[in-house]
Amino acid sequence: MFSARQIFSQVQRRSFSASSRQASKVTVLGAAGGIGQPLSLLLKLNPRVSTLALYDIRLAPGVAADIGHINTKSEVQGFDATPSALAEALKGSEIVLIPAGVPRKPGMTRDDLFNTNASIVRDLAKAAADHAPEANILIISNPVNSTVPITAEVFKSKGVYNPKRLFGVTTLDVVRASRFISQLKNTDPANENITVVGGHSGATIVPLLSQSGYSLEGEKLDSYVNRVQFGGDEVVQAKGGAGSATLSMAMAGARFAESLLKAAQGQKNVVEPTFVDSPLYKDKGCEYFASNVELGPNGVEKIHPVGKITDYEQKLLDVCLGDLSKNIAKGVQFVKEKP
Ligand code: NAD
Ligand code: LMR
Repeated sequence: MFSARQIFSQVQRRSFSASSRQASKVTVLGAAGGIGQPLSLLLKLNPRVSTLALYDIRLAPGVAADIGHINTKSEVQGFDATPSALAEALKGSEIVLIPAGVPRKPGMTRDDLFNTNASIVRDLAKAAADHAPEANILIISNPVNSTVPITAEVFKSKGVYNPKRLFGVTTLDVVRASRFISQLKNTDPANENITVVGGHSGATIVPLLSQSGYSLEGEKLDSYVNRVQFGGDEVVQAKGGAGSATLSMAMAGARFAESLLKAAQGQKNVVEPTFVDSPLYKDKGCEYFASNVELGPNGVEKIHPVGKITDYEQKLLDVCLGDLSKNIAKGVQFVKEKP
């Protein structure tokens, strides 16, 4: 007779070997950066990844050599900063994560990064559209509210846009919202899953605490919402000019990639918050919007509506939509003016 524990571990082993048989190439563009390195490390530890392709304008072969010594099965490839190496890094990729670009310093908004990062993301998006047109593209580079529309416009201009395969990574907002409520309520953050909708910067980040069954009032609610909206600034301040969140972001990016791989390999009911081409607020000028999204083998399976919210949350959402529509328009305009 087998114990329940023995049977469970056999089932786990079988499903592990089934999933590990599926070849999944994952590419990181910006792999030698503050996010890129720990993100690549976490992806190397993921048994669902069979090939890890690391590209950066500096140091990627070194990072690949280092990570490549870790005793997990996946093959790690590092690429020099040449167009042919970038093409090779992208070819056959199932997931392309893009954390390439500059981070904030104290006193800056994410939109202040636009001038530098818009062209970095545009050029990497061009390469992805040419060499991995069917991959899931995960945008981490800020300002996400604008870099996602930039990527979409590039893919559209090359005739390969698939709205189901483009994701702005907003997972860190949910990770923070869950952690911060657990600190207030003395609960296990692993059991918290606070819905956060909108975009990824300041007032466009809208936590929907009421949907989790919690109620905070007055100043407590204001300060919780403010901490979620400006959690990134906390890290930027604490790092004192040396960058923004890297380690928590690596965890959030790896979690999102893992969810996509799980969904691609047949797991059902995989839901993650993410900034996608969305019908929810197109009438308000927001072609892209983050809400809970069910993932599947084709990428976006189902976009969940925002659902029931309080009057307080509705006011947050109204402010969000105003800002977000401008951020989106700025990204679209950039590609029109500088294709
Ligand atoms: P970083 O400066 O440490 O690393 C960026 C890396 O990108 C560097 O290694 C750099 O060489 C590389 N790079 C620059 N141009 C490139 C190009 N054309 N091709 C390939 N690689 C290129 O910065 P970081 O801390 O890793 O942050 C990266 C980006 O992620 C920033 O824009 C930051 O604001 C953003 N970010 C987003 C979130 C989020 O929640 N979405 C969270 C944290 C940071
Ligand atoms: C974050 O939320 O930590 C990132 O968007 C980086 C930043 O600039 O705050």
